[in-house]
Amino acid sequence: MNAHALSAEHVLGHDARHLQGQIETAFSGDGRTLRPAKDALRNFASVDAVIAELKPSEPVFCITPERLRSAAASFSSFPGTCLYAVKCNPHPFVLETLYQTGITNFDVASLDEVELIGSLFGSTAGKFYNNPAKTRRSIRMANDLHGIRFYTADCLEEVDKIAEEARGSDLVIAVRLATNGTDARYVLSTKFGAMPDKAIHLLRHIRSKGIKAGISFHVGSQCLAPGAFSEAVELAGDVAKRAGVELAVLNVGGGFPAPYPGDDVVGPGHYFKSVARALRNGAIPRSCSILCEPGRALVATAGITLVQVVMRRDHNLFLNDGVFGTLQELGHSKERRPVRLIPSKPRVSATYTDFKVWGPTCDSNDVLGAPFSLPDDVREGDWIEVGMMGAYSLSMRTHFNGFFADKIVTIGA
Ligand SMILES: Cc1ncc(COP(=O)(O)O)c(C=O)c1O
Repeated sequence: MNAHALSAEHVLGHDARHLQGQIETAFSGDGRTLRPAKDALRNFASVDAVIAELKPSEPVFCITPERLRSAAASFSSFPGTCLYAVKCNPHPFVLETLYQTGITNFDVASLDEVELIGSLFGSTAGKFYNNPAKTRRSIRMANDLHGIRFYTADCLEEVDKIAEEARGSDLVIAVRLATNGTDARYVLSTKFGAMPDKAIHLLRHIRSKGIKAGISFHVGSQCLAPGAFSEAVELAGDVAKRAGVELAVLNVGGGFPAPYPGDDVVGPGHYFKSVARALRNGAIPRSCSILCEPGRALVATAGITLVQVVMRRDHNLFLNDGVFGTLQELGHSKERRPVRLIPSKPRVSATYTDFKVWGPTCDSNDVLGAPFSLPDDVREGDWIEVGMMGAYSLSMRTHFNGFFADKIVTIGA
């Protein structure tokens, strides 16, 4: 274990273990019905086997655990402790598979997520409540019922709220620092993050209350530039130094990119080296625990949405899932995914052409931002395998217009 890695108890404190085992159920695919997490998913040898057996007319979401395991393995060279951001894909099968690989700490953003992790893993999982805007009740429940010791804030009011609702000498509050986000597809600092001068004030305020202080940041989701991470680590070190505060924790967030087609993603090691380089520069003391909390980079490659063509009109394809379902991210014009046509009857078209792709609802916004390149004889009833859909897909589904993608299977489990 490297100098900056931590055990759950290191930050969470020994009290973290009480009461978590009480909730013994986990949520099902729709996030509402309580039922056992395991056994709910059927396993198939391949996507083609799903089609051969089910001939599905509803979308089928396929989870490939082997890909989860290899993404988790790639984070073993991160210079600290890797948490998983539950929001990215909270399916219990995903959480359990990651947990089995050794990712036993979780970034949670709501009481539901706190309870989900508690119900699956009891006190054996670390929970870090990193949403900078929390209700008092959720902080109280997180503290009293789940023993959470780690919280995030980006303003004085939230620091005071946490200090009032969650007490104890082992409490840690991290100040969320704003980053410029220019290298990311999804900028997160327009909503959360304190500028350096304010962060300095907050760090001192936290320490003045006898609470351990940390810094967290998020460089933005799908951040392609490794340098964004070192810049942010250096900024955090500079802020802590100017505040005169010794950091207990530095959380470098998520943002590590998934290797989507068209994105210039270097291997994960380059992003970790960028963090390690900035840590070596001396800005961060060795006693400080380093965390990261990726979502996308851990789960993106492990999900497939299998859709069917409902209608073809010229070069428009109408599918049974769209941006109000698991294809939410594909509304963005830069989002590309590998697609494969699986014809309903054998045909031999060798010519590919671009199709505009629409979802099943009546809303004109239910359209993908980039075309699918497919054999030109694609027709109603054909299936399309949309790969690399593991991130922000299941967690973003809606019931809009009565469509809901809730058929979930595993492949090669
Ligand atoms: C606080 C926080 N941590 C981690 C993540 C995960 O980010 P990503 O999926 O880009 O790795 C997010 C995403 O919104 C976040 O808000």
